[in-house]
Amino acid sequence: MKTGVKLSIHPSSFRLHPFSQSPCLILMKRLVIAIDGPSGVGKSSLGKALARRLGYLFIDSGAVYRAVARKALDEGVALDDGAALGRIARKAEVRLEGDPDHPRVFLDGRDVTAEIRLPETSHASSVVAVVAEVREAVVEKLREMGREVGVIMDGRDIGTKVFPAAHVKLFLEASSDVRARRRWEEERLRGRDAPFDQVSAELEERDRRDRNRAATPLVKADDAILIDTSAMTAEDVLDRVLEIVKSRS
Ligand code: DC
Repeated sequence: MKTGVKLSIHPSSFRLHPFSQSPCLILMKRLVIAIDGPSGVGKSSLGKALARRLGYLFIDSGAVYRAVARKALDEGVALDDGAALGRIARKAEVRLEGDPDHPRVFLDGRDVTAEIRLPETSHASSVVAVVAEVREAVVEKLREMGREVGVIMDGRDIGTKVFPAAHVKLFLEASSDVRARRRWEEERLRGRDAPFDQVSAELEERDRRDRNRAATPLVKADDAILIDTSAMTAEDVLDRVLEIVKSRS
């Protein structure tokens, strides 16, 4: 065998690097990578880029909270009715499909990809995410979705609660102004032309709720690597993280 690849490697622990430009085979251990941090910090951009480079599955855990919030809004459930929200979360059948560049979110068989990004769903998602019963139901779904190794999951509690034994834990931060600007630009690309101050205020409100709730609030896991992305481009962040991943492989 000319590749120099050892045949004794266990197939479930390693996979070929699918996007390698190199003619030689690169083997990487299949890891679980947790990316946490506040809104607008670049978690999902990083997660998607990493998934493309490593050929891993990318799971946007926020999309599951958003889908649960969507179901609650559609069914007219009051956002302060914890018990009913818990039931909604347990009942919701959420499926994430598609490649990292074209993710689709299905709720009870219906494509809700666009609806879960509407401002009212964004607001409701951070409200329902406060409810402990909702979190329990969503954590169960996330663990099920990510039970294979070779997975990247982003969220608020992935390194602390969903996958506390993740091989790589990253905690992204950035100044609130930078995050608001990124989110504003993202929303403009999606066709929402809201004033910057409004987008910034909404982001701050959700952030405050995510950081201050009683049930698994947004905090950095002790063993997570902190990356301040304020002055970094997406490429800079990806390069830094690929170095970290390589060192753990
Ligand atoms: O990442 P996002 O903005 O799409 O997440 C939507 C909301 O869901 C966010 O306000 C916080 C909540 N969330 C959470 O509490 N825990 C996660 N692991 C992911 C998201």
